Amino acid sequence: MTTPLPQARHLQSAQRAPRPERELRQRYDAVRSHSLGLAAPLSAEDMGAQSMPDASPTKWHLGHTTWFFETFLLIPHLAGYQCFDESFGYLFNSYYEAVGPRQPRPQRGLMTRPALSEVQAYRAHVDAHMQALLSQQLAEPERALVELGLNHEQQHQELILMDILHLFSCSALKPAYDPAWPRDAGGRAGRMRHHTGALVEIGHEGEQFAFDNEGPRHKAYLAPFEISDRLVTNGQWLAFIGAGGYRQAAHWLSDGWATVQAKGWEAPGYWQRVPEHPEHLAEGWLAMTLRGLEPLDLAAPVTHLSYFEASAYASWAEARLPSEAEWEVAARAGWLEQTDDVAWQWTQTAYSAYPGFKTAKGAVGEYNGKFMCNQFVLRGGCQFTPAGHSRHTYRNFFPADARWARSGLRLARDGRANALQSVPTPAAATDPLAGFRQDVLAGLSTTPKALSPKYFYDARGSRLFEDICCLPEYYPTRAEAGLLQRIAPALAALIPEGAALVEFGSGASEKTRLLLDAAPQLGAYVPVDISEDALERASQALRLSYPRLEVAPLTGDFTQPLSLPSAARERPRVGFFPGSTLGNFVEEDAIAFMRAARQSLGRNACFIVGVDMLKPVSLLEAAYNDRQGVTAEFNKNLLARINRELGANFDLDAFDHQARWNPEHERIEMHLVARTAQRVTLAGRTFTFAEGESLHSENSHKFSVARLSELAARAGWKVSEHWLSEAPQVGMFCLR
Ligand code: SAH
Ligand code: AVI
Repeated sequence: MTTPLPQARHLQSAQRAPRPERELRQRYDAVRSHSLGLAAPLSAEDMGAQSMPDASPTKWHLGHTTWFFETFLLIPHLAGYQCFDESFGYLFNSYYEAVGPRQPRPQRGLMTRPALSEVQAYRAHVDAHMQALLSQQLAEPERALVELGLNHEQQHQELILMDILHLFSCSALKPAYDPAWPRDAGGRAGRMRHHTGALVEIGHEGEQFAFDNEGPRHKAYLAPFEISDRLVTNGQWLAFIGAGGYRQAAHWLSDGWATVQAKGWEAPGYWQRVPEHPEHLAEGWLAMTLRGLEPLDLAAPVTHLSYFEASAYASWAEARLPSEAEWEVAARAGWLEQTDDVAWQWTQTAYSAYPGFKTAKGAVGEYNGKFMCNQFVLRGGCQFTPAGHSRHTYRNFFPADARWARSGLRLARDGRANALQSVPTPAAATDPLAGFRQDVLAGLSTTPKALSPKYFYDARGSRLFEDICCLPEYYPTRAEAGLLQRIAPALAALIPEGAALVEFGSGASEKTRLLLDAAPQLGAYVPVDISEDALERASQALRLSYPRLEVAPLTGDFTQPLSLPSAARERPRVGFFPGSTLGNFVEEDAIAFMRAARQSLGRNACFIVGVDMLKPVSLLEAAYNDRQGVTAEFNKNLLARINRELGANFDLDAFDHQARWNPEHERIEMHLVARTAQRVTLAGRTFTFAEGESLHSENSHKFSVARLSELAARAGWKVSEHWLSEAPQVGMFCLR
């Protein structure tokens, strides 16, 4: 039997953008030496053994990844290249029928020859010749093959760790691969995030490397769903075991139940009962890890599960596994924690071709497409995945009974009609007000009553905000413009040639001009705003002022998954988020937003974020209680908008604008407070307000440098530089 390498994929060569040769050579060196680093803690005996047909000896991984470069690059493309050893083609071919016969997979552990030292010499030989090849000008298809070879080697780096863990778990000594190997952090239990359902796009697009199974990008319809923001933990799994999860057929797929019986499973892979405590489940389990055998950490995510087990648990928990489209959309929105650093996550999606998928010609066409049968897709990445290897469109796949991969699960459910966030009715697709109406209905039904500040910005609200920016009390706009003026050259130095500036919540794009003037190398400007009116006015004005700049506005809600226009996708991107709009999010949403921005801006992007800093309360309260009453009008416009667009009957005179400092949360809160007890009707429903009861309409958090840095770090960013204005102080932060 030659079970194929389950993670195999390959790239779409036509999509590769040229990379400078020097960068490719550096990457080649880094990836190749990482494999040797992974092998360093192992003895020659460790590296030769094979613990089961699916797992391969480290020595074989080191040889096979080298064979890939020799076979697909050196032999066909380096003039005069002499093969290191003709017999290695048979020994180190994995599954390429087009390349010829090969050592049967289950017998890779029998390869006592070549010796480890010969495999190391083989690597050195191929590396030396690859350096020669990489010092030449490469054509695009060859460059793409090098990129494929490097990503292929990274897949084997993960396999080296998976296979060694399996091998060591079979050893009576239960050795540690590395006693200091990092632990998975525990943390709070997962919370469900609600998605309203939509027609979405999933799959890879753009210039960066991706395997071919990640495309073509295509549309997928999502019914309303919920997805957990965190993974299921060992402690939660223990409850499943305690409830007889492995002993009752009810929650299992038929093939899964047969597998449980046949294999005698009673717990995830690598769990082992402590002999003296068989009944005390909480203390009664050990788990094999790369640190050796150790007590189970109940707060850490459960790992090494088969699809069968994940699906049974989900059914027991009255949930299901997410589909891969649900997972991708939620990850892109920044909703998910533990996406790629703990365990791959089983989805309910059978691994198959996306619409329009075609296998490439030649042997590398075998990399991927031929495995699209009898496997399930896993998304994310795991603790063994090399840094930077995975991405949100990545499709890993394994058969349903495999559990030597570091696999875990995150729960999902069908959308519930009573979810707090809007769940669309069938009318939602055709009624543009449906989302607004449902959010208002939900916001008036909760205690305390609250609504997202994003609804301030209809055409009138956007103009009122522009008026606020000119008020004597509202210092943030002036302070930030002054700061930008001062630091514009430093910011401009961060912007690559031809880059696209993507601005979130761009409004009138007035401050943006300071950056556009300082950075003429910008090729495109992509303002993103929920207010179509503000966006339209700003874009027209900018096109007149900057005729050479491509202005590509995007109307949309930046808390939802967004597809950037091609003007941004095809260029290096720099994010811009001034005005302290970040402060309008509560902590969890700020982190989710920044995480999603990291995704849409791309790996090497910098993100320039401007926020308002902590300062005396008197100044803050004055800024939100201006003497002309413009802020009050802005706040009340929310009620006027609900009346106008949704046919409600708020009496604007019966509500007071209130803006007050909340010291616990370090934010200004805006409220609309009912002067007297009253009723409001909306969409056939009646809502009551007690006297003094408020509708909480906005938070405006104020920051310290430490606080902003902490939030950024939790979203995967690092503050590389920051600048502060004179008092009243605002700050500009460059995140990397
Ligand atoms: N950046 C400008 C405007 C800040 S006002 C400045 O610094 O002056 C906040 C802007 O964010 C408004 O234009 C508003 O329409 C936009 N906005 C608020 N919530 C949004 C959301 N959820 N999605 C997209 N835009 C949003
Ligand atoms: C857009 N945002 C940062 C403003 C703020 O200060 O929170 C909105 C605003 N609300 C009242 N005044 C201005």
